[in-house]
Amino acid sequence: MQLGGTTALLTGASGGIGQAVARRLHGHGARVLLSGRRADALDALRADLGGGAEVLVADLAEPGAAAALADRAGVVDVLVANAGLPASGWLETFTPDQIDRALDVNLRAPIHLARALLPGMVERGRGHLVFVSSLAGKAASVGSSIYSATKFGLRGFAAGLREDLHGSGVGVTVVFPGFIRGAGMYADTRVGLPPWVSMRSPDDVAGAVVRGIETGRPEIDVAPLPLRLGAVASALAPATAARLQRRLGSVEVAEALAREQRDKR
Ligand SMILES: NC(=O)c1ccc[n+]([C@@H]2O[C@H](COP(=O)([O-])OP(=O)(O)OC[C@H]3O[C@@H](n4cnc5c(N)ncnc54)[C@H](OP(=O)(O)O)[C@@H]3O)[C@@H](O)[C@H]2O)c1
Repeated sequence: MQLGGTTALLTGASGGIGQAVARRLHGHGARVLLSGRRADALDALRADLGGGAEVLVADLAEPGAAAALADRAGVVDVLVANAGLPASGWLETFTPDQIDRALDVNLRAPIHLARALLPGMVERGRGHLVFVSSLAGKAASVGSSIYSATKFGLRGFAAGLREDLHGSGVGVTVVFPGFIRGAGMYADTRVGLPPWVSMRSPDDVAGAVVRGIETGRPEIDVAPLPLRLGAVASALAPATAARLQRRLGSVEVAEALAREQRDKR
């Protein structure tokens, strides 16, 4: 599907990755509906983009907010479900409300948005849904139980939905970023990584989103080879991969991330 002349609804547009995705979609000729909670950040982005962008403020943790957002958006050709919370840390350190918020924003909202927008896309025989998951949606690690639950969930949801939509003209892509430098929920923490873990940029994720829409690729990783191989290994040999992760310092990194991202729960 080509983006020129389409309308794209982007959640998490105020965030580090979202801003890069917004610019890329806009640059490819889409009218972009920018959604997030922070009206000031969304207004600044809209002003920067010039014409062809609108702001739709929504708190996706609120009951019914996703369906209401889809309603306000009107005719949408492309959904990029990108909003997310880091939800890092050990399960027992979360309150029940924090668990629910992570599930609502990261998993429930994308499902409800897809549910609300799909009938129009199917009727027009044209559309694309992009879900921004994470490499933590392919391989779980210490301190990521809630986050991985949501990101694995997105992958499973998208895989089933893709089959449901076979032959309908509506495509489904899941994007799996690893650690992203420069902006976004990992970069905001300034937690260091072992030197062998290289990072990708928000613009790399934006490129993958557009590639997914234009080529219809079902899944795209945005991560260096060692991390992608790690994800494969953890599917094939989970115990060995987990042992290796621990030896490479995953516990220290997870503790630091949980500390730094606590205020985003
Ligand atoms: N950065 C990374 O290293 C990385 C790696 C893998 C996957 N990802 C995924 O990439 C996506 C974007 O993350 P990011 O790095 O850009 O993070 P970010 O800078 O923290 O941005 C998160 C975005 O989600 C929105 N959001 C959070 N809670 C919301 C709520 N209750 N209702 C509506 N919107 C809400 C935020 O909106 P407001 O700020 O306006 O509230 C913001 O636009 C997420 O799904 C994340 O899991 C990121």
